[in-house]
Amino acid sequence: MKTQTKKMAKNFVVANWKMQGNFKQNQVLLEAYVQSLSDLKETQVVACVPYPYLAQAQSLLQGSGIAWGAQNIGKNEDGPFTGEVSAAMLRDFGCEYVILGHSERATAYCESDENIAQKFMVAKAHGITPVLCVGETLIEREAGVMEMVVGKQLDTIIEMYGANVFVDAIVSYEPVWAIGTGLAATPDQAKAMHQFVRHKITHLDSDAGKRLKILYGGSVNPQNAVQLFAVQNIDGGLIGRCSLNAQEFEIICRAAEV
Ligand code: PGA
Repeated sequence: MKTQTKKMAKNFVVANWKMQGNFKQNQVLLEAYVQSLSDLKETQVVACVPYPYLAQAQSLLQGSGIAWGAQNIGKNEDGPFTGEVSAAMLRDFGCEYVILGHSERATAYCESDENIAQKFMVAKAHGITPVLCVGETLIEREAGVMEMVVGKQLDTIIEMYGANVFVDAIVSYEPVWAIGTGLAATPDQAKAMHQFVRHKITHLDSDAGKRLKILYGGSVNPQNAVQLFAVQNIDGGLIGRCSLNAQEFEIICRAAEV
């Protein structure tokens, strides 16, 4: 089992392309990322592309300082699991990050918290940094139970593997109501939830709490990025729509540098 030894950056901006792009568009976009973002000092930029484009991301990003990753991982090592992609396969393409538990997957493909927890550990065992998505729905927020919901999502991993697995991991707080809606959380809403996540892990394992990165995701754009990233305990963002536009993405990534 390989453990992670690479040094964590101070901040992260992770592009989540979702199921978008094609070979030609990706080339233009990735070349623009390299052109505009290779000089960042404090911020690790990561492009999480659809599986078939990992080789393309590898060939265009290698040596640029921009990392690449996937949007899901198989929970098994290998075997007869049609349609799945293993951690070792991702490593074959130099993949260092993987988004896990995104609400678009959790709802559409019925991913349980236990499944996501297993994937989290498989990623870590292969030296791939998990970017674990947590967050509440609008109904849950209106009912005031967002901390309970996010707490439970974290507890599944903690109960199965212990809080120490959050050392050098990434959690992305993603209120479901903010994803793709144009309605981001306010800095105050994000601040409260990020503080909750930090305290929860720190209380159980102070080293893990210190070394965990907590990103915000959900309608981050060039207008709100500076304000959101300035909030205490927000270590960057997970960016969907705006990561497909090189100019907008650059502004967001530079906001994380400040
Ligand atoms: P969005 O997506 O930036 O388009 O809201 C965020 C996400 O999927 O995490």
